[in-house]
Amino acid sequence: MIIAVDGPTASGKGTIAKALALHYDLPFLDTGLLYRAVGYQILQNGGDPDHAPDAAKACEFADSILDDPILRSEEIGGLASRVSVHPQVRAALNRRQVDFAHQIGGALLDGRDIGTVIAPDADVKIFVTAPAPIRAARRHEEMRKYGIDATLSEILADIEARDVRDMSRTDSPLKPAKDALLLDTGDLTIGDAVQAAIALVERKLHKG
Ligand code: DC
Repeated sequence: MIIAVDGPTASGKGTIAKALALHYDLPFLDTGLLYRAVGYQILQNGGDPDHAPDAAKACEFADSILDDPILRSEEIGGLASRVSVHPQVRAALNRRQVDFAHQIGGALLDGRDIGTVIAPDADVKIFVTAPAPIRAARRHEEMRKYGIDATLSEILADIEARDVRDMSRTDSPLKPAKDALLLDTGDLTIGDAVQAAIALVERKLHKG
């Protein structure tokens, strides 16, 4: 079984994806980390994230740092979004994701283009959303816990800029697949959102 979980930043997709992978005992790949590793490489070694050849070059070295918690920062998220518009970068990261998705025994991947490009054949596709101000408030709370100082309006502006960039790029933009099941987590606690996602998977599997 392949499950694809896509959606914008701070929608809850990462938490939902991890919980579903555990529930269904599926190998899990957070594909955002691949793009983040490329962004991190640019930050470390220099180069312009908006310049396709620089971003493509960074892909060659991005492999070794996938587990580094530093990749989770907002700064790296923004760089990841910028490098991810280049078709050369997407092509360099594509094969690994396609292979992961189609391994024997199934897989669960989360990202932006899993249901549309990486695994259009996925058995279940979930597109997780929430209104931008709610996502910004969640991110704000998360950052406050880690002692990171940023205003709500700065975070909202960053989230909206990232949404626009991810949705408007020509190669593999963020959008729900035609057969994706939509899950709006705006009014849900994380526990309820996970339960709702499991219910969507169950309904889809039993409908065949
Ligand atoms: O899911 P995330 O916040 O870790 O992703 C960071 C950026 O990487 C996101 O803003 C766009 C890019 N990305 C992508 O283009 N395609 C994916 N499948 C995953 C992430």
